[in-house]
Amino acid sequence: MAIRFDGRVAIVTGAGNGLGRAHALGLAARGAKVVVNDFGGARDGTGGSMTAAETVVEEIKKAGGTAMADGADVSNYEQVQAMVAKATKEWGSVDLMVANAGILRDKSFGKMELSDFQKVIDVHLAGTFYCCKAVWDGMKERNYGRIVLTTSSSGMFGNFGQANYGAAKAGIVGLMNVLAQEGRKSDIRVNTVSPTAATRMTEELLPPQALALMKPEAITPAVLYMLGENAPTRTILGAGAGSFAQIKIIETEGVNLPEDQWTPEAIEAHIGEIGDISKAQALEGAFQQTQKYVAQAAARLGIKM
Ligand SMILES: NC(=O)c1ccc[n+]([C@@H]2O[C@H](COP(=O)([O-])OP(=O)(O)OC[C@H]3O[C@@H](n4cnc5c(N)ncnc54)[C@H](O)[C@@H]3O)[C@@H](O)[C@H]2O)c1
Repeated sequence: MAIRFDGRVAIVTGAGNGLGRAHALGLAARGAKVVVNDFGGARDGTGGSMTAAETVVEEIKKAGGTAMADGADVSNYEQVQAMVAKATKEWGSVDLMVANAGILRDKSFGKMELSDFQKVIDVHLAGTFYCCKAVWDGMKERNYGRIVLTTSSSGMFGNFGQANYGAAKAGIVGLMNVLAQEGRKSDIRVNTVSPTAATRMTEELLPPQALALMKPEAITPAVLYMLGENAPTRTILGAGAGSFAQIKIIETEGVNLPEDQWTPEAIEAHIGEIGDISKAQALEGAFQQTQKYVAQAAARLGIKM
């Protein structure tokens, strides 16, 4: 079945360039009315203009789609609320939210200024929170919502020089984990894309041959899938250069030790078994971990629960 968005209203943040632009064009081509948000600044988050967003709106309109430009800075909650209010007034609802806007302030941790940390947290983590918060009540009222957040391999796996960005991007996954649970009964599904693509963010990092394989358009199918009627929830999809993979946070089976072995030495002695991923599981929620440990302790002690 074709995945379509006719009658749906979408906001894509940071859609004046790179990945957001590709997502906005992809959504509009499949029938969504799209708010093309971009504050139009430089890669480090300075400056600002409406030109980037307006150019993408023109592109969408030329292709026969429906779009409006918005210049909200996602790190400003009042501006984000005003953007959602404007879209709701104009088009009746916001059904789909793609929190994509982002900046970089890379420096090794020793050289990183607190302001570089704060700014990146404000745009990525707080900005993503604000975008979700501003559409949440409307989605709950209408019993429908699809939200896609944007993480990074830097947050999932680590990357030199990105303590600020990696922390923000890992925080976004934490936000997804909770929102997916809280949204479940209102059919609000919350997922995350972990992209890698040639944009102004990455143009200095890779050789031209690699960049040529990494078109921004290669990320959009993963995002559109996670915005569809049949989207999963609480899924992290990696995407880049035509590869699509799922990132899972797993926990090993572990060991349950008797109280006389609750020592660091016992942990050292068992670390191979503790780290053995052969029976690892992707836990569905925080409480599942508690239940697992209690069950393991009960089994060790022969207690029926
Ligand atoms: N390109 C990659 O390989 C890659 C890898 C991992 C994650 N990401 C993430 O993907 C997203 C898009 O990145 P991109 O590569 O397309 O970068 P990009 O710089 O090409 O585009 C980001 C856009 O966000 C806008 N923006 C920045 N701060 C904003 C704010 N406060 N409010 C509104 N708009 C703002 C910028 O003006 C820009 O147009 C980001 O969240 C980025 O961290 C990208």
